[in-house]
Amino acid sequence: MVCLGNICRSPLAEGVLKKLVADAKVDSLFEIDSAGTANYHVGDLPDPRSRQIAKRYGFQLDHRGRQFQVLDFEVFDWILVMDHSNYKNVVKLARNDQDRKRVHLVTKFDPHPDGQLKIVEDPYYGTLEDFDATYEQLRRCLVHFLSKISSL
Ligand code: 4NP
Repeated sequence: MVCLGNICRSPLAEGVLKKLVADAKVDSLFEIDSAGTANYHVGDLPDPRSRQIAKRYGFQLDHRGRQFQVLDFEVFDWILVMDHSNYKNVVKLARNDQDRKRVHLVTKFDPHPDGQLKIVEDPYYGTLEDFDATYEQLRRCLVHFLSKISSL
């Protein structure tokens, strides 16, 4: 899960996906992590609003910010990004087509009408309720993502 700062969207996405696989008792099949394309928040805990939303829905975020690195293309089969700028910045680091094919906008998996035309907007300058909307959007995308990859 990749965003810009790795404190708002991607740690929330990481927490949502970890909870989904834990609830489905398939967590041993997955390695799930998040990262930012920038290094502003390396070592930082997620934004308090992301942590509060996680708590609201029954999970905890204890991720520490880290920057996306080329090695991630070797560790992760699926690299889900939040917006077009994240996509561009991650793909810039791809060494070949195999790396590039691992990168997807997370909204590609949104089952809602028009959901795939959207991005996951950065809620950093928004309210707690904007973070709640981010959670709902991510959950919808990631539930559908899991069902898609389970049928591959
Ligand atoms: P994120 O949000 O990419 O969802 O973690 C941001 C958080 C912090 C900054 C930018 C985006 N920042 O510029 O510090």
